[in-house]
Amino acid sequence: MTTRCGDSGLRLPRLTLGLWQAFGADRSLESLGARVTTAFDLGICAFDLADNYGPPPGAAESGFGTWFSQHFSAHRDEVIIATKAGHAMWSGPYGDGGSRKHLMAGIDQSLRRLRLDYVDIFYHHRPDPETPEEESWQALADIVRAGKALYVGLSKYPPEALARAKAFFRERGVPLIVHQVRYSLLRREPEAGTLQTSAAEGMGVAAFSVLAQGLLSERYLEGIPEGSRVASGSAFLTPGNLTPDLLHRIAALRDLVRPSGYSVAAFALRWALRRPEIATAVIGASQPDQIRANVAALSLPEPSPELYAQAERLFLS
Ligand SMILES: NC(=O)c1ccc[n+]([C@@H]2O[C@H](COP(=O)([O-])OP(=O)(O)OC[C@H]3O[C@@H](n4cnc5c(N)ncnc54)[C@H](OP(=O)(O)O)[C@@H]3O)[C@@H](O)[C@H]2O)c1
Repeated sequence: MTTRCGDSGLRLPRLTLGLWQAFGADRSLESLGARVTTAFDLGICAFDLADNYGPPPGAAESGFGTWFSQHFSAHRDEVIIATKAGHAMWSGPYGDGGSRKHLMAGIDQSLRRLRLDYVDIFYHHRPDPETPEEESWQALADIVRAGKALYVGLSKYPPEALARAKAFFRERGVPLIVHQVRYSLLRREPEAGTLQTSAAEGMGVAAFSVLAQGLLSERYLEGIPEGSRVASGSAFLTPGNLTPDLLHRIAALRDLVRPSGYSVAAFALRWALRRPEIATAVIGASQPDQIRANVAALSLPEPSPELYAQAERLFLS
């Protein structure tokens, strides 16, 4: 099942597989390949990367590029491959941010690691307050003109910058089609304007961390399982995130949604996708079975508005 991304002609699958964590040199190429293949076979034809995904930075692109070139190159026209630049990637003054220097070098490095001639979507990974926004956007427009990317995306931009960005790219005939934002039952800030403005400016929203990195599941209710993101020492999800209060609320969510046939993760996924602005939910996965479960969640009946409201109340204040 696919949805049109904003006002563009590009259709995206409801789920995109993201390779942020658990796709670096800490996992085997076979493990990466098993998840990419599982996703593709289930209709997830979009893959979300960034230059700095690893560890170490660059490893996710290199692994994906190796696997893709060996097993999937015949399918290049059937998939959307996105990557990003804008977070710290290499040392020195040009390895981070939104300067033309950084973005131009970034796309070339990514294409080499990915072993591709072009990516489908090239994102500016974050707004850079130290660079004039037009400088970053002109670099993105030139990357599209050079044939290194088909579409432009922005990530984590404030709503007030989106209209300016859209006007900039429209004037230059360059398709800015997607805005990537963190959005989940635990992180609802985008409802205060980002979702609406993205849609009003013709951009689809790619929602990431819709499972709050795995917190919105049964995964941590009985402790910290081996192989989980917390157990693997991620800097982004630590034992400190597993507060008794949060775990209590997640257990309450499990008890609320289970009689209707949902796991916590399935419900959290459907909750994020309920908003019409969301073109795709970018999911992470450490195992193929998680991808299968998340795809299966799409076939469950739509939760009722009452169930959504009851679930939301569990996480208020
Ligand atoms: N633009 C940006 O700045 C930005 C920032 C962050 C992420 N992203 C993108 O969004 C993608 C997803 O981010 P994320 O990994 O935080 O997303 P997420 O989907 O919220 O979390 C993924 C984790 O949830 C767990 N999980 C997945 N399916 C599950 C299931 N059915 N049941 C139980 N647990 C399940 C797994 O944890 P375990 O690993 O513990 O098994 C998995 O690694 C990234 O890969 C990246 O592409 C973009």
